[in-house]
Amino acid sequence: MVCSRHGENHPELFEARMTFYQLKQDLIPHMLKEEQVLFPYITRMEEAGREGRAIPPSYFGMARNPVRMMMTEHDTAGDLLRQLRGVTKGYTTPPDGCVSYQTLCQALAAFESHMHHHIHLENNILFPRAFEMEENSAPDFYKSAGEFNEQRCIGH
Ligand SMILES: [Fe+2]
Repeated sequence: MVCSRHGENHPELFEARMTFYQLKQDLIPHMLKEEQVLFPYITRMEEAGREGRAIPPSYFGMARNPVRMMMTEHDTAGDLLRQLRGVTKGYTTPPDGCVSYQTLCQALAAFESHMHHHIHLENNILFPRAFEMEENSAPDFYKSAGEFNEQRCIGH
């Protein structure tokens, strides 16, 4: 609606729409993988740790394999969010923008904020915690995996 009404004077709206659709296409499978596979596994790891059991095996090997993929996807989402912020001039409504334009800019700014929070919580809290649980469960494996510590601090 905002594109059809303001697109002629603000062609950047079409680029913003394309960038947002790309984000949507990337994030839906990202969230599904996290919600349906990775998070339940991390929960099982926590339960095993609390009950003094070994971490249960998974079909994807160690948690760091999917976590690495999730962090790469976070980086891609971060790039697209920066692109979206740039093309909308920091989610600024132009002087000729209507209330719908303003609402769109506010919604995009809120979306960006939610995504940054999502990435921060996972990259800096949840994923390091999952690595730590695995490391404590199989210290010999991690001693031989030299790149482990380098992988922990990727992202935002
Ligand atoms: Fe994520």
